[in-house]
Amino acid sequence: PVIRREDYQPPAWLVPEIALDFTLGVDATRVVSRLTVRRNPHGDGAALRLNGDNIAPLGVKVDGVAVNDWRLDGADLLIDLAGDAHAVEVETAVNPAANSQLMGLYASNGMLCTQCEAEGFRRITFFPDRPDVLSTYRVRMAGDKAAFPILLSNGNCVAQGDDADGTHWAEWHDPWPKPCYLFALVAGDLVANHDSFTTMSGRKVDLNIWVRPGDEARTHHAMASLKAAMRWDEETFGREYDLDLFNIVAVSDFNMGAMENKGLNVFNTRYVLADPETATDADYDAVEGVIGHEYFHNWSGNRVTCRDWFQLSLKEGFTVLRDQLFSADMGSEAVKRIEDVRVLRSAQFPEDSGPLAHPIRPDSYQEISNFYTATVYNKGAEVIRMMRTMAGPERFRQGTDLYFARHDGEAATCEDFVKAIEDGSGLDLGRFRLWYGQAGTPQVKVALTHAGTTATLALSQAVPVTPGQPEKQPMPIPLRVALFDRESGRHGGERLIVLDKASDSFTFDGFSAPPVLSINRGFSAPVSIEADRSNADLVFLAAHDDDPFARYEAMQSLVVRHLVAAVGGGLSPDDRAAGRAAIGEAFAAFLADGALDDLMRGELMILPSETYLAEQLLVADPGAIHAEREALKAWLGHALQAALIALHDRASAVPYSRDAAARGARKLKTQALIYLAAGAPEEAARRAIAQYRAADNMTDRQGALMVLCGLAVPEREEALADFHARYHGNALVIDKWFSLQAGSLHPQVLDHVQALAGHPDFTMHNPNRVRALYMAFAVNPKGFHVADGEGYRIIGDLIRRLDPINPQTAARFVPPLGRWRRIEPGRSAMMRAELERIAAAPSLSRDVLEQVTKSLG
Ligand code: ARG
Ligand code: ZN
Repeated sequence: PVIRREDYQPPAWLVPEIALDFTLGVDATRVVSRLTVRRNPHGDGAALRLNGDNIAPLGVKVDGVAVNDWRLDGADLLIDLAGDAHAVEVETAVNPAANSQLMGLYASNGMLCTQCEAEGFRRITFFPDRPDVLSTYRVRMAGDKAAFPILLSNGNCVAQGDDADGTHWAEWHDPWPKPCYLFALVAGDLVANHDSFTTMSGRKVDLNIWVRPGDEARTHHAMASLKAAMRWDEETFGREYDLDLFNIVAVSDFNMGAMENKGLNVFNTRYVLADPETATDADYDAVEGVIGHEYFHNWSGNRVTCRDWFQLSLKEGFTVLRDQLFSADMGSEAVKRIEDVRVLRSAQFPEDSGPLAHPIRPDSYQEISNFYTATVYNKGAEVIRMMRTMAGPERFRQGTDLYFARHDGEAATCEDFVKAIEDGSGLDLGRFRLWYGQAGTPQVKVALTHAGTTATLALSQAVPVTPGQPEKQPMPIPLRVALFDRESGRHGGERLIVLDKASDSFTFDGFSAPPVLSINRGFSAPVSIEADRSNADLVFLAAHDDDPFARYEAMQSLVVRHLVAAVGGGLSPDDRAAGRAAIGEAFAAFLADGALDDLMRGELMILPSETYLAEQLLVADPGAIHAEREALKAWLGHALQAALIALHDRASAVPYSRDAAARGARKLKTQALIYLAAGAPEEAARRAIAQYRAADNMTDRQGALMVLCGLAVPEREEALADFHARYHGNALVIDKWFSLQAGSLHPQVLDHVQALAGHPDFTMHNPNRVRALYMAFAVNPKGFHVADGEGYRIIGDLIRRLDPINPQTAARFVPPLGRWRRIEPGRSAMMRAELERIAAAPSLSRDVLEQVTKSLG
C-alpha cells in the first residue's frame, strides 16, 4: 500500500499518558500497556486504532473491565469507544531473541534493547504508532538481576528494588511528552563511564555512557564529544538540556548509526568506542559527529518533533546541519565542508539522478525505512544551510529561536520550519519552498564575458525530470561569487547572488582585463555547475583562491574534466599530455605550498570518486572510468614520485598525537602511499609494510593495510594475518579487516569476497559485519562492476539471503543495482536481470519490494 502525504488526517484519539510494565526475558518478554485515551476534538470520530506488527493481543481491558468486542484490521487493533475518555489496557508478549530485524525489542549479546523509529514500537505493544501522538511515559521493568543488572528507560529512575526470587525492578518516568518512536528500554550487563555537565542555567546533569564490561576505556572520546556538544548547543543555538540525566548505551547489533531516544540514546558501538590503537582519525571524527547529532535531536526532533514521516527532514536535515556546524567548529571548517560535499556528491547526487529520486519532503512511500536517505538527511541539511547563507548566521539564529519557541512540545511540519525562519529572520522564502517539493540536482550553466571594464555573468538553471515529476520550476539558488584579478591574484570582495529565474545575468564593474570566476564558493548551493573555464583558470584558482572549498573545487574540476574527456575517447595524445601536465602542475604546487595545513593538503590530494565521475556522463562505462582514473593516479605517482617519497618521509617522522598537525601528517602518509602504489608499486609495498609494522595507531595501520590489500605482493598476506590475529575478538576492528579486503583494488577481489562470506567470523545477523563485507564491495567499482556481472550476482544473492533476516538492511543494497539505466548496455542488462531475479523471489519484504520495483521502473 502507498502512503501519501496529502492524505494526512489528525488522529481520532490522543494518548496523554502511557504506563508500560515489562516482565523481561530474552526469549519471552511480557508487556502490559495502560493507556489514558482522549478523543481528539480535531479528529474524525473514528474508532481507537492501535497499530501492531507481528504481535497478538493477549488481553484487552477498557476502564478496568476485560472486553472482547475489539477487532483486528490487518495487524491493527481497533476498539470502538463511546464517550471521550477511557483507560485502555492491552497485554502482549514478544520474543526478543527471535527478532532478527532489530526493530522493536531485541536481544544483542544477551542484552535487551529497543529501536522504535520509525515504526518499531508497534512490534512491542499496540499503540497509535504515529509521531503526532505525544504521551508522558511511565515504565516499569522487572527481570533476572544476574542477567540484567542494569535497567534503563527514558527520563529519570524514580524507584527500584530487589525481589526475593533473584529478580529486580526499576521504574522510570519521563516528564516530557513524546511520540512512541522515542521510547527506549535497555536491560543488560553494562558498565558506565560516569561524568557530569553543568548547564548554562547551572543545573547539574549526570552523564553515563554504558558499554559492555571491558570497553570502558574506549569511551573517553565519546564523553568529551558529548560535553562539547552540550556546551556548543547552548552557545550556538541557545539550547539547554532538559533532564537531570543523559544516558548513552552502545550496542553491537544496530541497523543504523544511532538513535535519539529521549534521555536514553542508543548507539551502534562504532560511533561510541574509540582509542588510538583501534580507531582511525576518521572514526574519531565520526564518533564526535554522531554523538553531536543525537544530542542535538533533543531539541530538533524531540522537543519539536515531526507531524508525520513525510516531515522527516524537519528533524534530520536540520540536525545534520547542526552536527556539521558543530564538527566544523571543533576542527577544520574548510576540511569539514569538503568532506560533507564529498558525501553529498557520492551518495546523494546519484540518488537524485536515479530511479529512487525523491524530494527532501517525499510525497509518498511504501516503507518509511527506505526514506532515511542521503536526500532527506544530507540534501535536507544543504537546503537549510542555504537559508542560513541567505539570512546570515545572526538572522538565521533569530529564525531558529522563533521555531523552537513557537513549536516547543508540538509535532510540526517542514512548512512550520520555513515559516518560522521567514518570520524570525525577515527573509522572504516564498519560492524557496520549491526546494522541499522538487527532486533532482539543479544544473546551473555559467558564462562570464568581459567588455570595457565590466564583467557579465550569465546564469541559467534547469531542474532535471525525476520519477513522478515531469515538469520543474526554477528555484532560488544562492551563489557566493568572487572575480579574481589575474595580475594580483586577488578579488575585490565576495558577492552573494541569488539566481531565482530560469536565466539571469549579473554585472561586475572595475575590471580592465577579463577576471577569473570563482563561483558556488563554500558550495553555497547543492547544484552542479557547468562552466566553460580554461585549464589555466582552474590551475589559477587551485593555487590562489582564498576560499578553501573553491580551491579544492578547482582541482576537482580540472581532474573531472580531464577524466571525462579521456573516458569519452575524445582526448588526442597531445590533449592527454596537456591535461596531465596541468593536473601535475597543480598537484606539485599544493604539495609544496607551505601555507597549507596538512589536513587540507591531504584533502586536495583526493581524486573525484568513480561514482561522481560516472554521474557526469549520461551513460557510463565503469570499466573505462576505473582504468582512466587509475592511469592518472599511476601517472601522478610516477611523475611526482620524489615529492611523494619526501612527503611520506616527513609525515612518518611526526609522532602520534590527536592534534591537527599530527592528524594531517597521518592523512598525507596514506595518500602518498596510494599514489605510489599506482605509480611505483614496489616502492609502495616496501613503505606500506614498514608503515604497518611501525604503526602505533590504527590510522597508520589501516592506511598501510589498505594499500597492501590492493597489491598482489607477499607482504599483503603477512599484514592481513597479523591484523586478524592482533585484533581477533574486537568486532569493530575485524569489521575493518573485512572492509579493506572487499574494497580493495586487488585483481582477485571477487574471490576474496566469496571466501570471506564463508569465514567463521562472518555472520548475516550483525549489520555491521554485513556492511563491512558487502557494502564495502558494492561501493568498490572495480569489484562490483567486473565485466562478467559476477559482482551484481554477489549483491543480488546477498539481498535474497538477507531479506528474510533483516529487510531494512537488505533494502540498502538495492540502489547500487538501480543505477542500470546510466551504465553501458552490457553491464546494464546484467544489472537489470539481477533486479528481476530479486523481484521474482517467492516472498519479499515491503522494504526490498519497494526499492526493487522502483528501480526496475
Ligand atoms: N533518527 C535516527 C538518526 O538519524 C535514525 C534512526 C533511523 N532508524 C531506522 N531504523 N530507520 O539519528
Ligand atoms: Zn538523526
